[in-house]
Amino acid sequence: MSNFPKVLESIDNLSLEQTKNLLSLSSKLRIQRPNLKNSPFQHCSLTTIFFENSTRTKYSFIKAAWKLGMQAIDFPVNLSSLAKGEDFKENLETLHHQGFSHIVIRTSDPDFFCPFREGEEKESPIALINGGNGMVEHPTQALLDLFTFMVDFKDDENLKILKGKKICFVGDTLHSRVFHSHLKLLKLVGMEVSTCGPKEWSEGLTKHYDDLDQAISENDILYMLRVQKERHQGKTELNQLDDYVQKFGLNLDRLNKNTKQDKQAKVYHPGPVNIGIELSEDIIQSKYYRGYQQVSCSIDMRAAILALMIIHNKNTHHNINKEEVHEWLK
Ligand code: CP
Repeated sequence: MSNFPKVLESIDNLSLEQTKNLLSLSSKLRIQRPNLKNSPFQHCSLTTIFFENSTRTKYSFIKAAWKLGMQAIDFPVNLSSLAKGEDFKENLETLHHQGFSHIVIRTSDPDFFCPFREGEEKESPIALINGGNGMVEHPTQALLDLFTFMVDFKDDENLKILKGKKICFVGDTLHSRVFHSHLKLLKLVGMEVSTCGPKEWSEGLTKHYDDLDQAISENDILYMLRVQKERHQGKTELNQLDDYVQKFGLNLDRLNKNTKQDKQAKVYHPGPVNIGIELSEDIIQSKYYRGYQQVSCSIDMRAAILALMIIHNKNTHHNINKEEVHEWLK
């Protein structure tokens, strides 16, 4: 495994050591405001190619690029030559020759990244990052969440405090690419993962709770997932949603009633939230809700991902070494 993958498709592409390097650089970037005029990254540029909608992922990558002094621009798919039928690989070559160093891609196609995997016939000329592929994975969301846990639990990149912490993913785990990336990442770092929700949304991959009250009382972290109606192919009726809210919706009263010895679980959500379904407004307004902290930490983690990709993958346009970056972040 190289020091950092050129195509970040899955958490499987990362070792524990690479994950710790990301956490360490994210921490540095969170506390420092380096001078952008001296940035070693100022000739690097990012574009975001999103075939599905996004607020958090797309704009946090753009902000992350700005944080490193990079340039960043969105690639509107419908106005591009892709909409005229141009092949994606041809687009990649074009963007490479225009000098782009990174592309973040969101797609509904689970196999989108297969042709660009290491050892495949056509190596991508540009660093590629999976910004969510169907129900398969959303690796950068899992990484930024881990960084948020580290900040919230006052841990460091060796993860001594988080090791053994209990996290329960509540809700639509079956359709959740966020959950699928977390399952790999949190096991890699030694956290105890469980799920809670309707049986038909459980893949049987972890310990499962049918009862949210029990999950609240036994876990340090409740990670609430969005009910993804758009992936249910019309199978979810309104009365089923009412039933879901009764059984698995989290509100402040429920959190407080099931908390033992004032040890309230912290509540996370990748967003966007269906307010009134998986989470009530009073939880979002409470100190236990960490969703906006996730949004804020996302910029540091995504900047760390962009930086390590460029440092460790030499490219015809950009050649930046670790020492230069170290000097810049002093
Ligand atoms: N969490 C997440 O991926 O949100 P967006 O769909 O807004 O990018």
